[in-house]
Amino acid sequence: MTAPLSPAVYLVVSGAGPTADIALLLTLAGEAGWTVCVTATGAGAAPLDVAQVAPLSPYPLRLDYEKPSPLWPPADLVIVAPATFNTLNKLAAGIADSIGLSLIAECLGLDVPTVVAPSLNPALARHPRYRASVEQLRSWGVQVLEGPRSESPGSMRPWSEIVRAGGAQLRRPLVERAGAAHSSGRGWVEQEPPQRSPDPPQAAP
Ligand SMILES: Cc1cc2nc3c(=O)[nH]c(=O)nc-3n(C[C@H](O)[C@H](O)[C@H](O)COP(=O)(O)O)c2cc1C
Repeated sequence: MTAPLSPAVYLVVSGAGPTADIALLLTLAGEAGWTVCVTATGAGAAPLDVAQVAPLSPYPLRLDYEKPSPLWPPADLVIVAPATFNTLNKLAAGIADSIGLSLIAECLGLDVPTVVAPSLNPALARHPRYRASVEQLRSWGVQVLEGPRSESPGSMRPWSEIVRAGGAQLRRPLVERAGAAHSSGRGWVEQEPPQRSPDPPQAAP
């Protein structure tokens, strides 16, 4: 029997406070058996602790456009966490002015399941453009995990909840996520042909 493949998850961080703690998400993702590839939006690289994060991924971090671009496996899932006001609005507008936004845009074009966890203050979370952007993304099938409206609508959901939401997206039948991952072509944001690491060995029953 062929060993199950480890899902490849593209993690996009942006310029918000929780990016400094992104190693927590990578640790949970590792426990879930995911292979995580890390990238950033324009302001996302600054708060990222590269020395802490790089050893948690088998693939090079992509913090800028490079030629040739480092090879990553095709994405099975995209997680954008934390997503700033700026990044979420750009995503909804189809703007791709950073490596992170370009990769998300390409993955959306390939119907790769995408989970977005915004981090912003209550005033920004009530902004009409932001509300419209959330609706736009949801209409494309993107899962936007907003904070509880009544308390603090912009506060980011816990890392464990974000990983759980990603796991649920990965469990959706492939046919439901038509075109996801496995049809991914080689865009100018180059991706590696399918060549995945197997899941970690499972305990005998
Ligand atoms: C320490 C710090 C924390 C920030 N936290 C947030 C935040 O939680 N949400 C947000 O929308 N912007 C936040 N900002 C502002 C964004 O970094 C800024 O709007 C930036 O242009 C976003 O760019 P990006 O979307 O490419 O990451 C923060 C800035 C700093 C310096």
